[in-house]
Amino acid sequence: MEVDKLRERIEREIDSIEGAADLERVRASILGRKGLFSSLFEKIKELPLEERKREGRELNRLKEYAEARLNELRARFEKRGEASRLDITLPGKRPLLGTTHPITAVLDEILEIFSSMGFTVVEGPDIESEYYNFEALNIPAFHPARDMQDTFYLEGGLLLRTHTSPMEVRVMEAQDPPVRIVSPGAVYRHDQDISHTPMFHQVEGLMVEEGVSFSDLKGVLTIFVEEMFGKKTPLRFRPSYFPFTEPSAELDIGCAICKGSGCRVCKGTGWIEILGCGMSHPQVLRNVHYDPERVSGFAFGLGVERIAMIRFGIDDIRHFYNNDLRFLSQF
Ligand code: DAH
Repeated sequence: MEVDKLRERIEREIDSIEGAADLERVRASILGRKGLFSSLFEKIKELPLEERKREGRELNRLKEYAEARLNELRARFEKRGEASRLDITLPGKRPLLGTTHPITAVLDEILEIFSSMGFTVVEGPDIESEYYNFEALNIPAFHPARDMQDTFYLEGGLLLRTHTSPMEVRVMEAQDPPVRIVSPGAVYRHDQDISHTPMFHQVEGLMVEEGVSFSDLKGVLTIFVEEMFGKKTPLRFRPSYFPFTEPSAELDIGCAICKGSGCRVCKGTGWIEILGCGMSHPQVLRNVHYDPERVSGFAFGLGVERIAMIRFGIDDIRHFYNNDLRFLSQF
């Protein structure tokens, strides 16, 4: 028997295998009970012992070789079969990514606008003392202005801050003028309806140095409105009252919903109030040992939810805090 010829023949047959069905056919014809090796082993039975041993060894080696190659092919076809069961044209599973909360998005935008005008961002404590929240801001204990805010009082003269204005005092106590800060954060009031939640967000602003005038206030806040709501947005400063500013004003922008003709959102006035502002009261400056004869300043406080509601046309403030993904995923 010529082993080389036999090996060539086996090799040729294995090389011609194209698929799994082919493979099984060739495997049977080579290794099967009625296959090539069976008949070869049958044949050598007749040979003399020595020769039979030698031929037997050669045949076994060849058979092992054929088995190894066929097994390898079978493994490869199985793998390919698995691959073809995987439909790569199906859309993949997307991980659920969160989105930026609309309040955070608007807050970031607000801070970005004031940063671009040289205001530094500072943050303060949610738990405040009565002194910083009221007293230092010229709101004494008996002042009716304390009624304007439904305060959550804590023990020991502490409270949940009702506005971010205490940060004006904290910053001025800690540094000399010039001061140019914005201070964002959560504030708390006992209040709840379609435009009030017990917790909401404000951004306080303060600019104090020599020669700051009401026109600086108007200039800075006009730029803010233009950047936030667009260049053509109508705006007006309307006289108002706050204990910590004199004179005080509220800033209204033209109602974007009805374009000024009057609707439910602007309560028929065509205007929507977006913030309170004014020139820092001399008593507030004196409370932090600034000299009101030498420096002057302006301050403002705006509600972030309110800005976001106008910006996105949201009619109920409670949407922000219901954690409803149908609402949140729109941003
Ligand atoms: N702290 C006021 C409030 O919560 C808002 C405010 C009004 C802040 C006028 C100011 C300001 O700095 O000048 O209603």
